[in-house]
Amino acid sequence: MAENLPEVLADLELFRGVPASYLSALADLMEMQSVGAGFNLGVQGEVGSRFWILLEGEVEVIVTTAESATRLAVACRGAILGELAVLRSVPRNATLRTLCDCKVVSGGAEALDFLLGVRSVRERIQEVAARRLAQDCKPIPVELKDGSFVLLRPLLPTDRTALVEAVRKLSAESLRRRFFSSAQPSQKLIDYLVDIDYVEHFAWVAIDAKDGSGLATARYVRTDNPLTAEVAFATTDDNQGRGIATVLLGAIGVAAKQAGVELLVAHVLDDNAAMRAVFAKASGVTTRDEPGVLAVRLEPDKASELLAPPTREAVGAAVRDIVTAASVALIERA
Ligand SMILES: CC(C)(COP(=O)(O)OP(=O)(O)OC[C@H]1O[C@@H](n2cnc3c(N)ncnc32)[C@H](O)[C@@H]1OP(=O)(O)O)[C@@H](O)C(=O)NCCC(=O)NCCS
Repeated sequence: MAENLPEVLADLELFRGVPASYLSALADLMEMQSVGAGFNLGVQGEVGSRFWILLEGEVEVIVTTAESATRLAVACRGAILGELAVLRSVPRNATLRTLCDCKVVSGGAEALDFLLGVRSVRERIQEVAARRLAQDCKPIPVELKDGSFVLLRPLLPTDRTALVEAVRKLSAESLRRRFFSSAQPSQKLIDYLVDIDYVEHFAWVAIDAKDGSGLATARYVRTDNPLTAEVAFATTDDNQGRGIATVLLGAIGVAAKQAGVELLVAHVLDDNAAMRAVFAKASGVTTRDEPGVLAVRLEPDKASELLAPPTREAVGAAVRDIVTAASVALIERA
């Protein structure tokens, strides 16, 4: 017996709470397809005009370079696949190959447009897209004042172990300055620091260009006013004073500006001279917030000027797609 597509869609988590009339109209733009194992839904390099939602089975996501083929992920029921190529009208950046008999529902640009018309679905798609684009982002080399190089890239879910390790090694004083308490952060706080969506919460990580170890993170988190974001920084104790937070503030300025953030704010302990010195370089305006704590306000544009123009340009190019994907949701939500 033929399955009823609107009912099949209604069963997916993605469409929870979406009215039946909408799913019926969407079903008219999509088609269900059963394929065997080893079938390529999409092929890296082709210009993609279709995307898929996986209903049954597993699909591997493979990126091939001249040297090797790497499996990036295995997608299962409910995954949206291949939407980036349709959203951006660019060649696919990965091959999507079925690992077993699979059932998918597929659609083209019209169906994707329709999907983006529902706020909850749009937010989910934007989040998935931003995460994938962050994963694709090539690390940007930046020279520090001592002539050494660090690489900047967005923080990824795979950085969890390294981040936990780095936080564990922070001195009590650095912990106090970062979290306003010298206690080790809770699991919940670590989750918050790592599980970022690149929409409300964006983070850069600076890694050592030689050995790939993590040196510092910087993040912004939007406040209730989406034009304003709160920033926070941490550099591992051994690497403080090398100019890393200065570079990261520049990169935060670039990303925030592209995402439409107009004001960066930070809460800094009164005695945190190093952080205050970094903000002062971007003309941060300091006021007293509460006893012992200062509020610093600065413009993303000014912060971005901490980077030399070619680096600023490279950082901008690296995050353009990520924050564009992310901010569509916000602009329409506002
Ligand atoms: C604050 C912090 C992020 C700065 O990171 P960093 O990578 O060392 O920063 P940079 O090297 O880019 O810049 C630090 C600046 O502060 C200056 N500085 C350091 N200690 C200082 C002091 N006691 N008085 C005045 N300036 C000081 C440095 O000279 C440097 O300026 P310069 O580049 O002009 O020489 C880092 O010290 C840290 O992680 N501290 C603990 C966590 C924290 O405080 N987070 C901020 C919460 S918002």
